[in-house]
Amino acid sequence: MPQRTVRLNGKKVSAEYGDVPAQGGAAEASEPLLYWLRERHGERGPRFGCGVTQCGACTVLVDGTPVRSCTRQVHTVADGAEVRTLDGLASGKPHPLQAAFVDQQAAQCAFCINGMVMGSLGWLESRFAAGDRRVPSDAEVRDFLSGETAAKPGDQPLNYLCRCGAHNRIVAAIRQAAEEMVK
Ligand code: FES
Ligand code: FES
Repeated sequence: MPQRTVRLNGKKVSAEYGDVPAQGGAAEASEPLLYWLRERHGERGPRFGCGVTQCGACTVLVDGTPVRSCTRQVHTVADGAEVRTLDGLASGKPHPLQAAFVDQQAAQCAFCINGMVMGSLGWLESRFAAGDRRVPSDAEVRDFLSGETAAKPGDQPLNYLCRCGAHNRIVAAIRQAAEEMVK
């Protein structure tokens, strides 16, 4: 059975899956990364929302890039890849993004918050790594969340939906977190 090793929130884990047809076609025995994370590894941060890449609730980072784990198949995650989820974000204390979302009361039902936090984490870390250490403006955050701007240059832009209409508080929380993260 094909197998690879990835780092899941810093720990090495094996990703096994069934045979993938060599000439294309469905990877019958593979499975969505979301199911693999939730059901095999007890990760409860990423959530099943739409299941068709439209909402962002399932977002995790693969090598720093936000990906939609509802449709990303485990067998497409590269050997040695770094997978980060909301479950691994806090280290001793809440991550600045988590703290800011609480400070700003940036949720109603909270179903979208995994995507808001993980997507903006990938975006902000990418900006900082590229040397842009400005706190993004309201407009820049809105452009990111609405899919106008990609998390990294060259990546596919993705949108992040909040069905409760908490977007204004979410924007404020991301900007507050950025202020803390650049210190
Ligand atoms: S559940 Fe994956 S994008 Fe909606
Ligand atoms: S807080 Fe309910 S979907 Fe965003």
